[in-house]
Amino acid sequence: MCGIFGYVGEPVDLGRSLTTALKTLEYRGYDSWGIAVGHDQRILVEKEVGRLNGSVPSFPHSSIGFGHTRWATHGGVTKANAHPHLDGSGRIAVVHNGIIENYQVLKAELKDRGRQFRSETDSEVVAHLIQEEIAGGHDLTAAVARTFDRLTGLNAVIAMDVGTGEMVAVKNVSPLIAGVGCHGVTIASDTLALRPHANRVIYLDDHHLIKLTRDGISLYERETLKELMPRYTPLDRSNRDADLGSYPHFMMKEIAEQPGVLSRLATTGVDSAIALAAAIEGSELTVMTGCGSAGYAAMSGSYLLSSLAGRFVPAFVGSEFKYHRRLLSPNALVIALSQSGETADLIEAMMLARSGGARLGALVNVEHSTLDRMVDLTFALRAGPEQCVLATKSYLAKLAALTMTAYVLIGEVAQGQRLVGRAADAIAEMLASTLPQQVSDLAAVVVKHNHMFVIGRGLAFPTALEAALKIKEASYIHAEAFAGGELKHGVIALVTDGTPCLVFAPADETRADVVSGATELKSRGAFIIGVSPDPDPVFDAHLAVPEAGAAAPMVNAVPAQLLAYQLALLRGNNPDRPRNLAKSVTVK
Ligand code: F6R
Repeated sequence: MCGIFGYVGEPVDLGRSLTTALKTLEYRGYDSWGIAVGHDQRILVEKEVGRLNGSVPSFPHSSIGFGHTRWATHGGVTKANAHPHLDGSGRIAVVHNGIIENYQVLKAELKDRGRQFRSETDSEVVAHLIQEEIAGGHDLTAAVARTFDRLTGLNAVIAMDVGTGEMVAVKNVSPLIAGVGCHGVTIASDTLALRPHANRVIYLDDHHLIKLTRDGISLYERETLKELMPRYTPLDRSNRDADLGSYPHFMMKEIAEQPGVLSRLATTGVDSAIALAAAIEGSELTVMTGCGSAGYAAMSGSYLLSSLAGRFVPAFVGSEFKYHRRLLSPNALVIALSQSGETADLIEAMMLARSGGARLGALVNVEHSTLDRMVDLTFALRAGPEQCVLATKSYLAKLAALTMTAYVLIGEVAQGQRLVGRAADAIAEMLASTLPQQVSDLAAVVVKHNHMFVIGRGLAFPTALEAALKIKEASYIHAEAFAGGELKHGVIALVTDGTPCLVFAPADETRADVVSGATELKSRGAFIIGVSPDPDPVFDAHLAVPEAGAAAPMVNAVPAQLLAYQLALLRGNNPDRPRNLAKSVTVK
């Protein structure tokens, strides 16, 4: 969601460097953008609805400025609502990420005091409140701290004062990282944007506030404004895995990277799997939580841990976690699954888990993310940057991590490693085989329909849910997943002549039952696409996958990812940037 990048330093062509930085944040999802640059004690602003189209706004060289990509929450997608927002004097500009939950009260107060608003956003109140604090005699640092204290919700704010040439940033959960380089200091919502500018970074803490000037960075305790020594982390500036290379889309690139991700995890993930298994063994109750695909990975893990290791580890959707809070105790372990490590619902769930005394663990892809930094135990997925909005390689990495953990719990760590390694090889072979072509031919049939269904049982049920989600996000075809046994309890009423039904039929205890369900669907006219090691007469089309045992959830996800990708192309959609969706869901 909203991307932020700010710079203070030697005068440069900020129109160019701010747009370049915002381009690197595009993957987060946005519907409008804006840039503010300081010049001659004035703030020059350029905003647009839609995407950055490659043209660079022309500004005089400047030493201070920031840009923002907005994903609308409060107020429609309009130029006026795009950030940055200016105060009444035109001296202060503000960019904001998050939702100011009490903005209506603040706005009403400001209006009563005669402040004029130019937008419908919650964010604009921040600019006016800062202006009032400055008018009351505070400098920008104190004004931002005092204003931020009045906001409720999970927010990140950066304010720039063109009068003093200062930029001040503060946050609550919503991430901000400051960078130091040779030509100036920078701040962004993601280290990807900092790479060209910084060689070391500071991950801003919720209790801190940071000031950027041409002299460098100053860090303060937010409450007392006592100056602190910043703790720097070196920034990996290599562009490893961040470029598209020869692939047409990040989605295809990231699908293709999966064998590498799994084979790496099979070796480097052992220590983390051992540590996680020990934490599970040491807890009275372990629960997992995640949102979207990460939630389905958690659910898959729940099936794996119970079927392989006889452990009951329930999985809850991140936003539903709070309704189970009475389960929390100091003897509980809560494991969050997340690619970005920034998903607001999940972070909130983990904060609640922390306040309930539970031990916190995470399976997370982005190192130094909020989740990574808040837990006691991290299983780093190290899948590399995932830039397609749709989760693919991070989903498989989570499954591999949980599969290995389950094998550690039964004392068979080497077997777990072999299984994940074999899954990596199997997926590499599938991707090099005729499967992608077969999927593409099949997509030409499926694309004519507006509804489809996906079924699986046991370990394949979460796979079905994930497959349906991928298809929905990429193609906007209504794809609905059900546990195979649920058909007769109502679902079958939806099936008509030709309805495509994707059926996961692995060679395990579920096969006979799920094939029987497929037969019932077929008798109602469904077009059955079987994903299975072996063919079956009930399949109208068969996508052959290798027999993978407990690794079937990893292997079976791949044909579904390919189908979602092909359907997106046939529908003329950009699979990397589905409508209305954002990569890093930093608001609730
Ligand atoms: C689906 C997808 C989303 C994410 C979800 C959680 O393709 O990508 O459902 O899985 O928004 O995101 P993370 O894993 O970053 O917490």
